[in-house]
Amino acid sequence: MRNLLDIMDLSTEELDGLIRTALDIAENPEKYAECCRRKKLATLFFEPSTRTRLSFEAAMYELGGRVIGFSEASSSSVSKGESVADTVRVVSNYADIIAMRHPKEGAPLVATRNAKIPVINAGDGGHHHPTQTLADLLTIYKEKGSFEGLTIGLCGDLKYGRTVHSLVNAMSRYEGVRFVFISPEELRFPRYIITDVLDKKGIPYSETASLEDAIPGLDILYMTRIQGERFEDKDEYERLKDSYVLTPEKLIPAKKDMAILHPLPRVNEISVAVDSDPRAKYFEQTLNGKYMRMALILKLLGLDGSKEEPKESVKSIFLEGLKCPNNRCISKTEQELRQEFYAADEEKGIYRCVYCDTEVRK
Ligand code: NCD
Repeated sequence: MRNLLDIMDLSTEELDGLIRTALDIAENPEKYAECCRRKKLATLFFEPSTRTRLSFEAAMYELGGRVIGFSEASSSSVSKGESVADTVRVVSNYADIIAMRHPKEGAPLVATRNAKIPVINAGDGGHHHPTQTLADLLTIYKEKGSFEGLTIGLCGDLKYGRTVHSLVNAMSRYEGVRFVFISPEELRFPRYIITDVLDKKGIPYSETASLEDAIPGLDILYMTRIQGERFEDKDEYERLKDSYVLTPEKLIPAKKDMAILHPLPRVNEISVAVDSDPRAKYFEQTLNGKYMRMALILKLLGLDGSKEEPKESVKSIFLEGLKCPNNRCISKTEQELRQEFYAADEEKGIYRCVYCDTEVRK
């Protein structure tokens, strides 16, 4: 059985396959209208969402399936103290596939270990958001015709923004890609992705606090919201929340074919005046997200005719006495969950939590 926790769970060939299916769905929707007859998608959303939940629901309806679920933790038994493990054990009896969003990082991994049906991570804390990346990839593909040789600028909250973590992982597979990370010092892109992914693969990147300096060299500008809900220090959020605002003036030196993406919701990091610029692609991105989620549901339910590729499971070890220090990790709240780590650099004694990838040292 296949799940989607991290965009890297999908091979490059599988991503290409999803893009092909999504393009075909957009062209020939009637061909797919009955594919999921009698199938049910459960949307378990423990955290607010507009696009992701509604696009999953629309995706399942357009495939002829049905949807059950909840859109806030307070309307489920979680408010009575039920664990993620018990919730998905129960939902496995009612549905064929789960899309789950949770504020705790690693909650969808706990779900896969307890569910009898495929689980899709629809966003876990500040960690991963692979289905947003599917929407991003289709948008980039439609705009540029390829993923190779692109310079991608990511701007805003690169620390807590889960969409950029997944997108950088996905794009790092393609030849000639380079990244420009644009953020305040406090919200820099996570070091573990830089060392484990970019440095390992020799992918060029630069870091700057200036959007103006970065703009002229970019093929893609990916704006993000400062993630207020993830800050432990609310004063820091107040200080940083208006770090970047993209305006028509700032776009003057940009390439004529630069595509502007944003996972949305926008707060005020893109001025409304930019919306009429032909380079603004963020509303099309939301439509692309629905097509990619349709393709993904078909794949995970085994209805797209593709063969299931075996996946290596994450190697984990149990390190006696060590605790994950990340307060946003599911291991902080889930009942009787064993702390588990995998080796990042055994010689240096560096391990990472299997749930949230936070570094611990032995
Ligand atoms: C993003 C998310 O939830 O991470 N939204 C989305 O799913 N499109 C981005 C955000 O909330 O800023």
